[in-house]
Amino acid sequence: NEVLSFRTQLLGWYDQTKRELPWRTLAITEPDVNIRTYGVWVSEIMLQQTQVATVIDYYNKWMKKWPTVEKLATATLEEVNQMWAGLGYYSRGRRLHEGAQKVVSELGGRMPRTTEELLKQLPGVGRYTAGAIGSIALGRVTGAVDGNVIRVLCRVRAIGADSTSQSVTEALWRIADTLVDPERPGDCNQAMMELGARVCTPKSPLCNQCPIKNSCHALRKVSIKQEEDSKRL
Ligand code: ADE
Repeated sequence: NEVLSFRTQLLGWYDQTKRELPWRTLAITEPDVNIRTYGVWVSEIMLQQTQVATVIDYYNKWMKKWPTVEKLATATLEEVNQMWAGLGYYSRGRRLHEGAQKVVSELGGRMPRTTEELLKQLPGVGRYTAGAIGSIALGRVTGAVDGNVIRVLCRVRAIGADSTSQSVTEALWRIADTLVDPERPGDCNQAMMELGARVCTPKSPLCNQCPIKNSCHALRKVSIKQEEDSKRL
């Protein structure tokens, strides 16, 4: 079946080529679900508008200073802003701080445990970020569609229509939810992000290196067209 081979190829490639990132290690090795969810939340907020290479140092320093949501809740906004200096979009740090205070004062210090709760209860967490945290930290079987994943899915399914339209957005979320591997949802979503960032790039994608090229309808269309063109010459 097409979905099963898609998952196998994508995850096989991810296992071979993935980067070791501190929040990935945390998601695998941290036994405390509250700390795991908190750490992945911090990483996803930092990654919203900042490149992976820049985030690593900030993430490590942040987690050293505030290793738990309770510790973050006791910080001052000045300390948070100081820690955020250089990352830009300071409202992200402020929302982490607000969210930590809310978790401690309103949720008894317990981080949300489902994608829906993450979306509803944490400020600054939208549909994508909730899906990412839910799948990576909690093993929830939900897709996570960000800009990179939109591009990958539009190509895989040869969707040429405006990807910002409501109907295409809904279709992409349905496709992502179908493709995500229920055994490894976090790895599957991170593999899609990584594929978009490193192989399925906006310009000149590296299709020959792509683990899912056999499932890619856009590539199939281009290949057929090239075949026809070469016969006509
Ligand atoms: N961008 C957003 N989330 C990410 C993650 N978990 N790993 C790599 N890049 C990301």
